Amino acid sequence: MIKLTKRAPEEFAGDLLVYLVEEEVDRLGGEASALLNRVLYQIKAHGDFSGKQEEFFWFYPRITGEAEPDCKARRVLLVGLGKQDETMSGRLEQLRLAGGVIAQQGAKVKAEEVLVVLPEDVVLSAAEIAEAMTEGLLLGNYRFDHYKTPGQDQDKARPVATFLLSDGGLSAAAVRRGMNRGRILAEAGCSARDMANQPGNSWTPAEFADYAKKIAKKSPLKCKIIEKATMKKLGMGGILGVNQGSAVPPKLVILEYRTNKNNPTVMLVGKGLTFDSGGISIKPAAGMEEMKYDMCGGAAVLTAMQAIGEEQPAGVNVIGLIPTTDNMSGAAALKPGDIISHFGGKSAEIINTDAEGRLILADALAYGIESYEPEAVIDLATLTGAVIVGLGHHRSGLISNNDQLAQRLLEAGERSGEPLWRLPIGPEYRKQLDSQVADLKNTGGKSAGTITAACYLQEFVGETPWAHLDIAGTAWGFTEKSYIPKGPSGIAARTLVNLLRGWKSLSPGEQQS
Ligand code: BES
Ligand code: MN
Ligand code: ZN
Repeated sequence: MIKLTKRAPEEFAGDLLVYLVEEEVDRLGGEASALLNRVLYQIKAHGDFSGKQEEFFWFYPRITGEAEPDCKARRVLLVGLGKQDETMSGRLEQLRLAGGVIAQQGAKVKAEEVLVVLPEDVVLSAAEIAEAMTEGLLLGNYRFDHYKTPGQDQDKARPVATFLLSDGGLSAAAVRRGMNRGRILAEAGCSARDMANQPGNSWTPAEFADYAKKIAKKSPLKCKIIEKATMKKLGMGGILGVNQGSAVPPKLVILEYRTNKNNPTVMLVGKGLTFDSGGISIKPAAGMEEMKYDMCGGAAVLTAMQAIGEEQPAGVNVIGLIPTTDNMSGAAALKPGDIISHFGGKSAEIINTDAEGRLILADALAYGIESYEPEAVIDLATLTGAVIVGLGHHRSGLISNNDQLAQRLLEAGERSGEPLWRLPIGPEYRKQLDSQVADLKNTGGKSAGTITAACYLQEFVGETPWAHLDIAGTAWGFTEKSYIPKGPSGIAARTLVNLLRGWKSLSPGEQQS
């Protein structure tokens, strides 16, 4: 939990009082007491702490064991912010990183209540400072212990129960606004991590659908579920094909956020593959357990919709679609050589049943574009191992047919601390998918695997401005930082919300690159 407090920091008698320290500044902000500033001066003069990014320093201000009049807290934690980054996105990231350190250290000492004095800043507004700090604190405070017997890990770190933000002299109303925006973003990221951490036997298409129904109940979102029988009528041979070897039915989960029909509509599509065994083209055993994370694109869309439902941005309609199934190798499973027919009639020759993500996304893209006529479409998927070869775990791959949409996504990713890197696309790559017997095949050979996967998707978006995010390298094992845990990162939900806040229609005629 996080809340704004009016309590003066010196009066706070709780577990942990936190000040943020700039690398090249020798005074604390937020009207800190003379005592604390003298201590900081000493620490810096001795060279024990300089305020570098993610550096921290503890001390215990109660000299006699009793609360000191100038500083009643049990512990004081100084956290470095580094040298003031002059870019807005750089500065936001500095605050999130500091927030992550505070959460980690608070958990280490099992602090119940942590009071954070917000720093002043020349680059960011009060609301932005509060937003980024809140994101860092709440994302950094994340744990997944759903399957641990309670009480077994007594000595381990325990997440902080309550963060208190002290406005440090900034406008309290702006801080409250920013704190709320940050909380909504962080909750989206943490919910996405929860979904991903759930194993394939607990997070199935039914759980995706139930979660969507639940958020539709407490927000202005509308939820629709397309079930297997309807998929058959609609001719969704991609989702049905991938599901053929499975023991549980597939679903197409849809959430609609509608403001006004004159507003532009943006459509989000996320791969909700709850476990990817590879199917008949089965994956090697080593590391296969990680394929429970193959639903992270779906989790990003679902939790972005959750955030949209709560924040309710003006001027835009947002539709979220999550095609969801597992990819198993039961007796009825799809086989290499089989030919399927997608929604809208395009046929595909299956070369490798492990290239299943594109099959379920193709139906959702084609169906969504026909049904909702969006002005822009963004799909997210843990689609290819090749993107990890190319970009590692530090950037998601971005492929788009529209420069303006690509640019907006690059900026939203940068702002969110979730950087993207754009890759090319074009007919020369599409040729790799030519099939002798069908409209296209589902794999394009060894080279440019991330791009040929995107070419497959592009077949189903027509002229609609479209962007594809391949998050296979970042959805788990993302760049190590204080507010990103090991395991699933909850990536992309925050980028999507940042993209949709203040969405303006794309200008026409700037198509194609
Ligand atoms: N879900 C995987 C992609 C993946 C691989 C994500 C490793 C994260 C880590 C996807 O369904 C897949 O299996 N893709 C194949 C495609 C190939 C058969 C053309 C791949 O990347 O090997
Ligand atoms: Mn696969
Ligand atoms: Zn997959």
